[in-house]
Amino acid sequence: MSDAWIYAIDADDVEEEDVMPAEIEGQEIAIYRVEGQFYASVDRCTHGAANLSEGIVIDDVIECPLHQGRFCVRDGRALSAPVSEPISTFPTKVEHGKVYVQLIGADDKGG
Ligand code: FES
Repeated sequence: MSDAWIYAIDADDVEEEDVMPAEIEGQEIAIYRVEGQFYASVDRCTHGAANLSEGIVIDDVIECPLHQGRFCVRDGRALSAPVSEPISTFPTKVEHGKVYVQLIGADDKGG
């Protein structure tokens, strides 16, 4: 668990209403771009072994590629079955075209 800002990806590498994977300190992270804002979460569905970065972004919702469960990318809450557990999300910031993430709570959600 760290409150340091860690480089994740170039902003230009994430298209609007899309998601890309990034690895930060050994953690697989999904980086979303919604209306020009960047969001980050764990890159793992809480329902099964699926990478959310392979799913589809619809507005501020990520749809899991495996069983189409949905989460809000802003706060990670589970929106539709079969998912019920939220995903961990992380703060992001953009500086000079680069996206940085704070891995707060990565190990211990809500800590
Ligand atoms: S693994 Fe994501 S909905 Fe089943």
